[in-house]
Amino acid sequence: MTKNDRANFGSKLGVILASAGSAVGLGNIWRFPYETGNHGGAAFIFIYLGCVLLLGLPIMVAEFLIGRRSRANTAGAFEKLAPGTQWRWVGRMGVLAGFLILSYYSVVAGWTLEYIIEAATNSFSGKTPDEFISSFQAFSSNPWRPILWLTLFLLGTHFIIVKGVEKGIEKYSKIMMPVLFIIILILVVCSVTLPGAEQGIEFLLKPDFSKVDGNVFLSAMGQAFFSLSLGMGCLCTYASYFSKDTNLTKTAFSVGIIDTLVAILAGFIIFPAAFSVGIQPDAGPSLIFITLPNVFQQAFSGVPVLAYLFSVMFYVLLAVAALTSTISMHEVVTAYLHEEFKFTRKRAAQIVTGGCIVLGIFCSLSLGVMKNVTVFGLGMFNLLDFVTAKIMLPLGGLFISIFTGWYMNKKIVWSEITNDGTLRVPVYKLIIFILKYIAPIAISCIFINELGVIKL
Ligand code: PFF
Repeated sequence: MTKNDRANFGSKLGVILASAGSAVGLGNIWRFPYETGNHGGAAFIFIYLGCVLLLGLPIMVAEFLIGRRSRANTAGAFEKLAPGTQWRWVGRMGVLAGFLILSYYSVVAGWTLEYIIEAATNSFSGKTPDEFISSFQAFSSNPWRPILWLTLFLLGTHFIIVKGVEKGIEKYSKIMMPVLFIIILILVVCSVTLPGAEQGIEFLLKPDFSKVDGNVFLSAMGQAFFSLSLGMGCLCTYASYFSKDTNLTKTAFSVGIIDTLVAILAGFIIFPAAFSVGIQPDAGPSLIFITLPNVFQQAFSGVPVLAYLFSVMFYVLLAVAALTSTISMHEVVTAYLHEEFKFTRKRAAQIVTGGCIVLGIFCSLSLGVMKNVTVFGLGMFNLLDFVTAKIMLPLGGLFISIFTGWYMNKKIVWSEITNDGTLRVPVYKLIIFILKYIAPIAISCIFINELGVIKL
């Protein structure tokens, strides 16, 4: 494909909403509240914000500049910028990570569809907490239903991907992101006005630094990576569709703000509601699929119509957020197959969707009938989660910062960040300093910590 006929995002807003759509997902709405709950509330948020600002944003700029400069898929980008070197493996690892994450992420994304139907058919009403637990367990270990939903979710993602960059990703992100914001705001208002919600609000606003240790710091950095879609060249692929005059630093800043805002607002939905019915928020998936329906029922027991609306809206919100993220992972792999192996875009997308459905089926079954089939003691779902989030993403981020900080031609880096000197970027030196020194050291620490070599 020549440089000129390559697709582009059509507008600045499209660029920001598509990138923010990738970043905002299940990571913000279930992982962030769970991590916050486990690490002291406001103190964790405070450190998380520091990580987003100091590490996440510079690495996002790095991914953006690699993508826009090369105007290629992730693997092709490293090949173009460092021809004939081993750097291409960083891009290939990103593509593989995208494929693997998409497979297991779609399982959870599929669950959101089941819960939309359950909420919409009012089947939460009158259930006891124990019934919520048993019905979630029965559903997630069922050999058929979750597979049906994950297939449907991947087909929805496929539908948008084959429409292309501007008519697919950009158009749908422009519709879905504002919808998501509206739903979030309505839910926040409902949640903070519940009786007893103050305790949850206090938990989010009043830092308890006595709970902060090295582990909290490292967890906050890990969350920033996952949540901002960094480390696998996802935003690098999106940046390959940016135009020459897109301001990379500003775009990274906007995406970072939107992603962080959604995570914090998700906290304001979940904690006030949970505290108001005396539930302590804990483990990720169960918080959303077991605890929350229960919270909605109890919190609005006097007004069943609100319980109904609150539940339906929440799961629609989760599905929309997950969809804008699955699109971005799908695009990483589709662009790679399309550009490197010369498949048509449609065929490339079919291969990705088909492959993810097959792998996703095994992930889903590993939570039920194939529970006993394990590798290193982990079922397929947990294994893919571990290998990607805990190994591939930190490793990818580490290499991306070293690549831009140390390997790439300084003039190219400067011209991309400052748009050929047309933008005054006073933070340019700071970004380079972080990419050269701070990010590699900090990510190495997360990586080593996650592998359990040292426990701080
Ligand atoms: N950032 C997404 C979330 O928070 O749910 C997950 C994700 C998307 C991770 C894309 C990595 C990625 F490349």
